[in-house]
Amino acid sequence: MKNVVVGQSGGPTAVINSSVAGVYSGAKELGAEHVYGMIHGIEGFLQDKLVDLDEYLDNPMGIELLKRTPSAFLGSCRYKMPKPEGHEDVYEKVFEVMEKHDIDVLFYAGGNDSMDTVKMLSDYAKAHGKKQQFMGVPKTIDNDLPVTDHCPGYGSAAKYIATTLKEVIRDNESFGAAKPTVEVCEIMGRDAGWLTAAAALAKGDDCTGVDAIYLPETAFDVDAFMAKVDYLSTHKHSVVIAVSEGVKLADGRYVMELGSENAMVDAFGHKQLSGTASTLCKMIAQKTGLKTRAIEFSTMQRAGSHVASLTDINEAFAAGKLAAEAASEGATGEMVIFKRLNKPGEPYQCGFSRYDVHEIANGVKNVPLEWINETHDGLTQDYINYAKPLIQGELIPFWCDGTPRHLVMKELADF
Ligand code: F6P
Repeated sequence: MKNVVVGQSGGPTAVINSSVAGVYSGAKELGAEHVYGMIHGIEGFLQDKLVDLDEYLDNPMGIELLKRTPSAFLGSCRYKMPKPEGHEDVYEKVFEVMEKHDIDVLFYAGGNDSMDTVKMLSDYAKAHGKKQQFMGVPKTIDNDLPVTDHCPGYGSAAKYIATTLKEVIRDNESFGAAKPTVEVCEIMGRDAGWLTAAAALAKGDDCTGVDAIYLPETAFDVDAFMAKVDYLSTHKHSVVIAVSEGVKLADGRYVMELGSENAMVDAFGHKQLSGTASTLCKMIAQKTGLKTRAIEFSTMQRAGSHVASLTDINEAFAAGKLAAEAASEGATGEMVIFKRLNKPGEPYQCGFSRYDVHEIANGVKNVPLEWINETHDGLTQDYINYAKPLIQGELIPFWCDGTPRHLVMKELADF
């Protein structure tokens, strides 16, 4: 490979930069002359917005700092590639920019929608006899990419959620009031409940855990929810509930739409989900008169690199590096996937492979229904066994003047 380019796309995570570091290290080790970064993903690439990553990463400190920097160092985008028919100019522009910079491989780190971009570009290249390669690097806090055992970004967001929920529970339990405050915590994950499930990881010998967990995999029953709140608030001094932003009623409406019907929609047609916790808190307050608190973990859960999982950071780095190795072997139209190598009960071991992106793009892998309890408000031990290894280990930030130091790309501000 001569020159390569790496881009970041979709919702950021605490470790997507580790994947960029992995692509950079892998490609350089394999002899790439220049490793470019796309500024704001494919959207910026179409405008020839590139940065030579040597400027930031050609020293061990750069890589270490990048691993400790949350969000998309290169800038992200939510750009949907149009269908090639009638939009050949968009595709030809991608190849024009690649040829201009002598780039033979494009790496794209992202989730379901971003893998669609990898698929469309690699298909176009094959159909038009172009030699350029396109490789996907998995990324999503949602953990919902098909085929792979888990996704980089999930372990760190899960660790943030479990950690923060323990702190929230500690706070709420401290009052010992006759009538508890009901705290409803809203967790991201548009279509799949993996991240909300991580609330189950708060429980341990030093924490009673959350009192109920609601995932989008099962229909949300308002009456059953209110009955549960009633029961908990008469039997406990503290009630903390975790709920996915994507929970839906049996009729298909999002619970958050009970509070407001005019949700914003992004380029992929996804509604902006927000307000589930406050909608439920209003219901609880009106019906019971209890004090409530709606907590949206929102951006914090995917940007919280100060509690990132070292396992996640290392695997994200490995995913980037393996994508570079796969490209050097001629791979295109594929994504790096993770495989769990250990048998149940054995120590966790992650293996890597790669897979046809057609089987992954736009797909959603849900939490298996058998990992959700019978009353649809909690997780089974199988989930805990699956998720616990992914949140292990820490990488201490470089604290500087009281806050963690980040690597910041100056070109981002100019774009
Ligand atoms: O896809 C990742 C994700 O963080 C989802 O969990 C969430 O629903 C969505 O992105 C939020 O997107 P945005 O930041 O564009 O509102």
